[in-house]
Amino acid sequence: MDAVTQENLIYDGIKFPKIAHTEDSLNYTRHEFQVRDDDVFNVTYPKSGTTWMQEILTLINSKGDTVPYKSIPSWERVPWVEQTTGRGFLENRPSPRLITSHLPAQLFPKSFASSKAKVIYTVRNPKDVCVSLYNYCQITKFLECIENFAEFHSMFIKGDVIYSSWFDHVSGWLKMDQTNVLLMSYEGMLQDPRGSVLKICKFLGRDLDDAPIDSVVENTSFKNLKNNQMSNYTLVPEEFMDHKKGSFFRKGISGDWKNYFTVAQSEQLDQIFQEKMNDFNLKEKFMWD
Ligand code: A3P
Repeated sequence: MDAVTQENLIYDGIKFPKIAHTEDSLNYTRHEFQVRDDDVFNVTYPKSGTTWMQEILTLINSKGDTVPYKSIPSWERVPWVEQTTGRGFLENRPSPRLITSHLPAQLFPKSFASSKAKVIYTVRNPKDVCVSLYNYCQITKFLECIENFAEFHSMFIKGDVIYSSWFDHVSGWLKMDQTNVLLMSYEGMLQDPRGSVLKICKFLGRDLDDAPIDSVVENTSFKNLKNNQMSNYTLVPEEFMDHKKGSFFRKGISGDWKNYFTVAQSEQLDQIFQEKMNDFNLKEKFMWD
C-alpha cells in the first residue's frame, strides 16, 4: 500500500492537511454550506481541547445519556464541516447538528453571518498548543513529523504549521465579538469543569438537572475520555496513526510547555504575542503564565 500523504494544501494562504481537505471541500464549506439557526459549532485551533468539547456537547445534547458517546466515533457525531467527509455527515442530518471546525473566521461558512447558530470558540495557551501539536505530529502519519523541537517551535511561531498561525486564528475569532459566540478556555475548563459545563448549557439554553450535568462532567474527564474508544482515536488504523508512539490523550495538563521551551523560545513567543494579541488581554483573563 502507498504511504499516506503528508502533503498540505494552501487555501487562501492557510495550510490544510491534504489527507482530509480539498479545494472543493473548503469552497463548499465557505460558499454553499447552509448553516441552520439551531446549529452548534465547536471551533478551535488544533490541540486546544476540540475533542473534549465534542464530547461535552454530545453529552449535553443527549441529556447525559452515554449511548451515543459510547457507540459512535466523535468525528462522526460532531464532524468537521470543512473536511471531505463533512458534507456527507451533515447535509441531511436532523437538527440540532453539532459541528466541529478548525477554520479561521475568514473561511467559516458565509451563511453563519445571517443565522442564529451558536459558536463555542475554545482557546488554549499557545505554548501548550505548540507542545501538544509537536507530539501529535510524532504519532500521526499524515502530518510532517519534525523531530527537533527547536525547529518545530520556529515553524509554529511563524505559522508554518497546519491551520497556519495560532495568533491569526485566535485574533480573528476574538474579533467576532457577538452574542452567539462564546469564548471558553482550556485552562478554565481544567480549573472548573462543572462550572464550564454549566456555562455552556446556559449559552445553549439547555436547562439540565444535576444528574445529567454530573454525567457530562464525569464522562468528559481526561481519564474517561482516554478510556473511551469512541473518543480516544484508537479506532484510527495504524496506517494513519502509530499508536505505539503515543496516545492522542497525552497529558491533559496546563504548563507542560515548561518541559520543552527554553527561556529564549518562551521569550520569542511572548514577543509575538505582545505584538499581535495585546488587545485581547488573554493572559490576564486566563491566567497564562
Ligand atoms: P495534550 O497533548 O497536551 O495532552 P484537540 O482535541 O484539540 O486535538 O486537543 C488535544 C489536547 O487536549 C491534548 O492535550 C489532550 O490530552 C487534551 N485533552 C483532551 N481532553 C481533555 C480533558 N478532558 N482534560 C484535559 N485535557 C484534555
